[in-house]
This record gives sequence, C-alpha cells and structure tokens, in this order.
Amino acid sequence: MQYFPQAMNVAVIGAGGAIGRAMVSALASHDKVNTVYAYAREPVCFADVAGAAKIKTACMNPLCAVSLAEGAERVCQALDMVIVTTGLLHQDSLQPEKRLTEINRDNFLQVMQVNTLLPMLVAQAFMPLFRTGSHRVFAALSARVGSISDNRLGGWYSYRSSKAALNMLLKNMAIEMRRSRPGMIVCGLHPGTVDSGLSQPFQRNVPAEKLFTAEYAAASLLQVIGRLQADDSGKVFAWDGQTVEP
Ligand SMILES: NC(=O)c1ccc[n+]([C@@H]2O[C@H](COP(=O)([O-])OP(=O)(O)OC[C@H]3O[C@@H](n4cnc5c(N)ncnc54)[C@H](OP(=O)(O)O)[C@@H]3O)[C@@H](O)[C@H]2O)c1
Repeated sequence: MQYFPQAMNVAVIGAGGAIGRAMVSALASHDKVNTVYAYAREPVCFADVAGAAKIKTACMNPLCAVSLAEGAERVCQALDMVIVTTGLLHQDSLQPEKRLTEINRDNFLQVMQVNTLLPMLVAQAFMPLFRTGSHRVFAALSARVGSISDNRLGGWYSYRSSKAALNMLLKNMAIEMRRSRPGMIVCGLHPGTVDSGLSQPFQRNVPAEKLFTAEYAAASLLQVIGRLQADDSGKVFAWDGQTVEP
C-alpha cells in the first residue's frame, strides 16, 4: 500500500489521548480520507482542525460491552482502517513498578485490561464492519518496551508485559485474519517517546530531539501504515518504519 491510494473510512479509538487526537486531525486533513470516526470516553471537540466536517465523534468506553456495541453500531459498514490509540502506564497510585515487590494485583490487572484486552475487544466489535478487499488495516499502539529481546533495563513489569502480550495477540489475529479475512493487515505501532500525559513523569532523561510531538508521531505512523504490505501483518513497527523485534 502506498500512502492511502484509495478513499478510506477510518475509526480511531482513544481520540481523547495525545496521539489519538493527533491521528484524528492528521487523518481528517488527508484528501484520501472520507470519514474519521473518533471515539473517546469523554466528548472531544475537533471543530478547529482542518477537515473537521469529516470527523464524526462519539463517546464510547471500550471496556463496557454495551458501550462498545453501541459505538460499533454508529459506523457505516464500510470501514477500511481501525487504529487503537488507548493505553495506560500510570494513574493515581498506579505507577510502573521498579521492582518485583511493587507488583500489585489490581494495578497489574488494570494495565493488562487497558493495554492488552481492550484492543482485542475493539477488534472483535469492529472487524465485521470492515469492507472486504486488500489493504484493510487494524493497528494498535504498542511500545518498544514490549519487546522481550530489547529488554535491557527491566522494570515496568505490568506495562512491559501488557505490551508484549498485545504483540502476541496481534500476531494471533494476523494469522486468523489471513484465513478468514484475506487482505486484512494487523499490526502494532511504536510511536517513539511522545510528549503526552502518559510519558510526562518519565521525560526527564529524554533528549529534546528524541521527545516527539504527538503530531509528529501521528504523521510518522500514518506514513508507516501507508507503506504496509500484506506480509507485514502480525508485526510491530516503530515510527521510523523499523520492525520492533519480539
Ligand atoms: N507517549 C509515549 O511516549 C508512548 C511511547 C510508547 C507507546 N505509547 C503508546 O501510545 C498510546 C497512546 O499514548 P499517549 O501518549 O497518547 O497517551 P495519553 O495521551 O495518556 O492517551 C491515553 C489514551 O488511553 C485512553 N485510556 C486510558 N485508560 C483507559 C481506559 N481504562 N479505558 C479506555 N481508554 C483509556 C485515554 O482515554 P481518555 O482520554 O478517555 O482518558 C487516552 O485516549 C498508548 O498505547 C501508549 O502505550 C506511548
């Protein structure tokens, strides 16, 4: 696929987050995008972005079965792409663990639920809405720290394992879709270190040139998506197009 050669309908789940919002804005300004369905838990306003008329916003909590089903019902039955940009690293007393003793059952399950289960529930609900044909894309934001072979520092037990498990589930989905939905490309995406609420407490040692804006990350990832080929399905790609090894 080149950078969106055909007219597309796209759904972004997590449109209230920094990268999600930037994805919606970038997609809406793209001339090959017809409609962007922008889902967030709370209302998000895109009135000030270029192509705002193409954006259909809706509130949806993907971890609530009823809300997820209602959200999926709002989409025309002709989706070409779904991008899941939700994710959880910290929240109040939930903080990434530095050591084994800091693992907390509730926090661990919460991180797994948001980072690992949620994208699969979205895939389950939205997959029937895809148009058939080649170069349909289901992408979920993962993270390089989910790579087992790249893990040199340890720590962040829940977050790392939730993203490693997400990568496995995306690979599983890719295998299943090869049989049941030929033309579907399933992938994980690593956005780099991006200036957002998620990364904010951990930015101190990040050199300025390696801390991306959400707009830069979104534009880079859309370029990566635009270059995907059928045999890329099941892999994880970084913002610069490099494969993130498992
Ligand atoms: N920022 C980075 O440096 C970085 C690096 C590597 C990977 N990533 C990944 O990129 C993705 C986007 O991150 P971001 O930087 O844009 O973070 P962000 O601004 O904090 O956005 C996080 C998003 O996740 C949603 N979310 C959190 N908890 C949720 C829950 N329980 N149920 C439903 N949605 C929930 C938020 O929804 P609400 O708006 O409704 O709260 C928001 O849309 C994540 O998957 C993250 O792991 C980010």
